Amino acid sequence: MFSANGFILRVLSVKRGWLMAYIELENVTFCYPGQSRPVLRDINLSIYKEGVTAITGANGSGKTTFSKLLIGILTPTKGWIKLNGQLLTSLTLAQIGRRIGYVFQNPGKQLFCETVEEEIAFGVRNLGLGLSTDQVAQKVRMVLDYFELTRYAQVYPLSLSAGEKRRLAIAAVFVLEPDLLLLDEPTTGLDPYRKKLLGDYLDKVIAAKRGVVIISHDQKFISRYATRLIKLQEGQFVEE
Ligand SMILES: Nc1ncnc2c1ncn2[C@@H]1O[C@H](COP(=O)(O)OP(=O)(O)OP(=O)(O)O)[C@@H](O)[C@H]1O
Ligand SMILES: [Mg+2]
Repeated sequence: MFSANGFILRVLSVKRGWLMAYIELENVTFCYPGQSRPVLRDINLSIYKEGVTAITGANGSGKTTFSKLLIGILTPTKGWIKLNGQLLTSLTLAQIGRRIGYVFQNPGKQLFCETVEEEIAFGVRNLGLGLSTDQVAQKVRMVLDYFELTRYAQVYPLSLSAGEKRRLAIAAVFVLEPDLLLLDEPTTGLDPYRKKLLGDYLDKVIAAKRGVVIISHDQKFISRYATRLIKLQEGQFVEE
């Protein structure tokens, strides 16, 4: 028999499913040790897994600090952060890293392998995904191809150009199939053509049903790719 209540509940849960925050911050304040002024004050914010959320703000406003809080490198001085309903403090950095793929403001800092291929394979082998050697090789080949890095497979990562390093850093986290990519200033040092390529990769990430958070000053890039824009101003977020 048709149950109106059941139907309404289903519709509501589907709707809530769409709107459910992937990352939730409640009353988050962060102050670096020994400093009197907090960088972030009483932040209440939900971040969703859909689309591209852009975070802007002046130099030194705390964008990178905020991103480090999201991946658990820093812990709030006050308040809490939940990732997919779980308190961030109850998760290990590796568990967080599997869900949020983080690309540093300076991606060179996160590249440490001898070759591009090895850089992409490293996480796949070491995050305990339980894949066979063949499966790892297949995944690596696919991602090299997806990010147009196949011809650099045997190249030393730190000898790549700035744009290629960033592409490799994105590929190396993308291969781990995170729910969300978090990119700190991804267009720095890229010419218009490389920016367009980066945008195309973001489109691919979105097409693969992942979310993206970009921290950026680049108004033109943001206006082309962002589906939501929030600005960090005097320690607080303003939705634009
Ligand atoms: N490790 C640290 N110890 C103390 N203060 C810090 C530390 N890292 C950053 N800060 C300070 O915190 C504030 C926010 O810095 P943060 O790097 O988060 O800003 P940002 O918005 O990312 O800046 P940018 O646009 O230049 O990348 C700045 O005043 C900075 O000097
Ligand atoms: Mg920064």
